[in-house]
Amino acid sequence: MADHDISEKPHACPSCPSPEAAPAPSRRSFLMSMGASGLAVTGGGLIPRGQAQAAAPAAAEAQVPVAAAPLAPGEQTVNLVVNGAKRSVNVPPNAVLLDVVREKLGLTGTKKGCDHGQCGACTLHVNGTAVNSCLSLAVMHDGDEITTIEGLAQEGTLHPVQEAFWAHDAYQCGYCTSGQMMSAVAILKDARIGRDDASVREAMSGNICRCGAYKNILAAVQSARTNMPKVS
Ligand code: FES
Ligand code: FES
Repeated sequence: MADHDISEKPHACPSCPSPEAAPAPSRRSFLMSMGASGLAVTGGGLIPRGQAQAAAPAAAEAQVPVAAAPLAPGEQTVNLVVNGAKRSVNVPPNAVLLDVVREKLGLTGTKKGCDHGQCGACTLHVNGTAVNSCLSLAVMHDGDEITTIEGLAQEGTLHPVQEAFWAHDAYQCGYCTSGQMMSAVAILKDARIGRDDASVREAMSGNICRCGAYKNILAAVQSARTNMPKVS
């Protein structure tokens, strides 16, 4: 645990709105909302973020396969299992996985930073392996299991890595945080990666934090290690 109270810590960034203008959510609810922000899905085109949140399905509904819309010229259907639910999307051959996840599936917790494989903001899991989704074509993933940040929390309970990021104040602006947590989950499951700080830093080095929260991110990852589920 951090040695200071972070639950109500005011945010003093001069470029942000004043508390009077926009009451800030708690940092714990920020992590919760990050996981729930893109639960709504569609087999068709773009859906506005607000609609995605309003249409977030119950867990049982999320298991119902979503059929793809009729194919447009040049498109092909890609079948995925996204956060445990079957999805079918029609995409052109050059559609990037990150864009499909965000814009076709409405899962906007996965972020686009550099769009060149250099920052890690777009990290998600493909068949349990962390990948930079900005570097991968969606058509390469027919039949794959995709896990995004929205799939970490289960039935309203944060994943141990999410809990640890909150407890250790391991984010500031939060833009890199979903990618950081997805990488953290993957490396904590990877027996080839050492448990020492240097090994964790090296394994997480593909995730850049512009805010420089590295010290607390490392503390969170190491803290989460003992609480990781045996199977997830
Ligand atoms: S957005 Fe994919 S690595 Fe930066
Ligand atoms: S918390 Fe701002 S970029 Fe990492």
